[in-house]
Amino acid sequence: MADHPASTRIRTAVVGTGGIVTGAHLPAIAAHLDELELVAAVDIDQDRLDAFHTTATAIDGIGPVTGHTDLATMLETERPQLVLLGTPPSLHHQQARAALTAGAWVWAEKPLCLTLAEFDDITAAEGPAGTGPYAAVVAQHRYGSGTTHARRLLTTGELGTPRVAHCQTTWYRNTDYYAVDWRGRWATEGGGPTMGHGIHQTDLLLHLLGDWTEIRALAGRLVHDIESEDVSTALVRFAGGTIATVVNSVLSPHEVSRIRIDCDDATVELTHLYGHTNNDWTYTPRPGIDDTRVTNWRTNPDDTPSSHAAQLAGIIHAYRTGTRPPGSGPDARRTIEFNAALYKAAFTGRPVHAGDITPDDPYYTAMHGNHPDWAPATTEEQQ
Ligand SMILES: NC(=O)c1ccc[n+]([C@@H]2O[C@H](COP(=O)([O-])OP(=O)(O)OC[C@H]3O[C@@H](n4cnc5c(N)ncnc54)[C@H](O)[C@@H]3O)[C@@H](O)[C@H]2O)c1
Repeated sequence: MADHPASTRIRTAVVGTGGIVTGAHLPAIAAHLDELELVAAVDIDQDRLDAFHTTATAIDGIGPVTGHTDLATMLETERPQLVLLGTPPSLHHQQARAALTAGAWVWAEKPLCLTLAEFDDITAAEGPAGTGPYAAVVAQHRYGSGTTHARRLLTTGELGTPRVAHCQTTWYRNTDYYAVDWRGRWATEGGGPTMGHGIHQTDLLLHLLGDWTEIRALAGRLVHDIESEDVSTALVRFAGGTIATVVNSVLSPHEVSRIRIDCDDATVELTHLYGHTNNDWTYTPRPGIDDTRVTNWRTNPDDTPSSHAAQLAGIIHAYRTGTRPPGSGPDARRTIEFNAALYKAAFTGRPVHAGDITPDDPYYTAMHGNHPDWAPATTEEQQ
């Protein structure tokens, strides 16, 4: 409680007290209790709300947390300044809008929303530049010292020009996983591993390499009886000239999350599963590189793991300074646009360029783009 007395701590609420809020948001809040005061929790399921209350209030420094089963009531009675959303994906759009309209900043779980149209509608509800409120998306793999270090080496040219990259999310999900009603459906999850799983790695790839310009892709529904894909692959060209491959799968018994970037002077690789530390990053020099340079690449003075807590520090800083937070605005839109373009390229069999998907494009309002092989057959099925 060092820096701020209770009265100046940021009044924080969580919405959806399930797996991710209890397992990741709560520890992140607990790591920032000098800045945050957890005042309220919302869930439509009273049992989950009660379980969350028990877990939260057992943490030293977290006082009573008022439980609510209705978001609008919570916003009106608790007047939170920061709202963390951990509800199923289809709810994020309207819940983010409601919180922004009530004057609260929003940090929503991935995906922030299901379409580019929803994304633009959320940002339209943000406050003015310089004050906010703003809406940001959880992208915890972008944070932590390993990413910061690698990005600095890449963007300063220390590793030479990035030429070839691989981005791999090869995970395994069984039929029980898809028994949860909101999963595997366009209207509720927004897509398959492209939107729900690989989004962490592709977002990190874009964070490291910058703007993408062109995508060609394939998608398949190979194993699971779901509406969306269970595997997608893409070929991507970046503005800086790098050519990359992307694989998003939930069919892969040997699970791994991987990024590899071959630059003129070195290959940088990240290999992990659900989060990384410095040790998960390696740097391999090309022959002839001076030892001192290699030692500097491999020496990272800080060791902060990627985590919700690491990103939340940036959200708090942005709130305190009234600046756009990391993981919001054009930066977050680029990742959603990447996914929309990947689906469009896969389903139409044609390359898609950045900026192609405008509001009159069917892939602007639905990731399936109303494609007859991929969109639910009737409007009723989309509910
Ligand atoms: N960042 C990550 O690494 C990561 C990992 C897992 C899940 N997620 C994301 O977190 C979100 C939630 O996933 P989860 O696995 O925690 O799901 P979950 O089902 O465990 O939790 C969702 C909770 O939301 C509640 N809820 C449903 N409708 C609600 C409403 N209208 N108002 C308030 N609460 C409501 C449910 O009762 C449930 O408690 C998803 O967007 C998912 O993609 C992110």
